[in-house]
Amino acid sequence: MRCRITRQTDAAVAVLKAGGVVALPTETVYGLGASTFDPQAVSRIFAAKQRPLFDPLIVHIAAQDWLPQVAADFPDQARKLAEKFWPGPLTIVLPKNPAVPDLVTSGLPTVGVRVPDHPVMQKVLQEFGKPIAAPSANLFGRLSPTTVEHVLEQLGDRIELVLDGGPCRVGVESTIVQFAGENGRILRPGGISQEELEAVIGPLTTTVKELSPAEPLAPGRLPCHYAPRTPIQITKKIPMSATPGEPRGVLLWHPRAVQGYAAVEILSYNSNLAEAALNFFPALHRLDAAGLSQILAEPFPEHGLGRTLNDRLHRASAAFPS
Ligand code: TXA
Ligand code: MG
Repeated sequence: MRCRITRQTDAAVAVLKAGGVVALPTETVYGLGASTFDPQAVSRIFAAKQRPLFDPLIVHIAAQDWLPQVAADFPDQARKLAEKFWPGPLTIVLPKNPAVPDLVTSGLPTVGVRVPDHPVMQKVLQEFGKPIAAPSANLFGRLSPTTVEHVLEQLGDRIELVLDGGPCRVGVESTIVQFAGENGRILRPGGISQEELEAVIGPLTTTVKELSPAEPLAPGRLPCHYAPRTPIQITKKIPMSATPGEPRGVLLWHPRAVQGYAAVEILSYNSNLAEAALNFFPALHRLDAAGLSQILAEPFPEHGLGRTLNDRLHRASAAFPS
């Protein structure tokens, strides 16, 4: 299949209306979208991504007033978060409306919903007029895409169209919060920090036991996810000088003196975690393409978006225990 790139939202909407899949820009990462209420279209997402059917999809809506189309209940605490953070990088898991196909939710009684904050994605939702199911536009378990080029690298020969909305502004996926009644818990850290959420609704549970593939509470939490092909070692003590003859790369969250490495990525020159988040996946894509034997990565400070980045870094390194 030859993948076209377009800036025209009507081309993307035409594919959605015809039951196809299309890569769409959001503020977090690119998504691979299809019509939520068309199970055949949704099955094409799973096929293109080689995604196991036990991993449910996030449903994107244009505004909070679309929520009844997909969810059956909206507890007050969830509503408070939605009012503060939608549109934005927050997914809320709620009891599902029976109209949502089981394929979208992998048979779960709940559905993950968010209102994306990207003008191009908003235009697509308005023109299409229906909720769009979309996981990230990458092959299952691999690095998330924050540019059109990233989408093409992994899915270029598997999908027909990418809607170009420029590089993603946030750069990490949405935070997923699940509500069972008024009790919220974070299933996946993401673009909204735990501190920001707790400032609105008070303490949230975060401890989710590591899940096996048979227990898909939030498969973004499988230990190996967001993985490059190059082994990553996380270490607080990156040697200042590289070992000669070894093509190793380093991923630094802020500037530090290192020398002799085959590749060096610095995520934020002024120690800003939002900037580091924005640069995280692009830096990993570049390092992964650089023919390195190993990537040495330093951990992020364990607060704010640093927690999200540590989560992604650990999952990216989990395929290669050190
Ligand atoms: O920022 C984002 O969230 C991006 C953009 C495209 O919106 N999407 C994204 O989708 O990251 P994906 O499929 O890569 O990750 C969605 C995660 C999956 O791990 C999935 O299991 C979880 O959300 N999820 C979806 N519905 C769920 C549900 N009902 N209960 C628990 N987890 C759910
Ligand atoms: Mg994903």
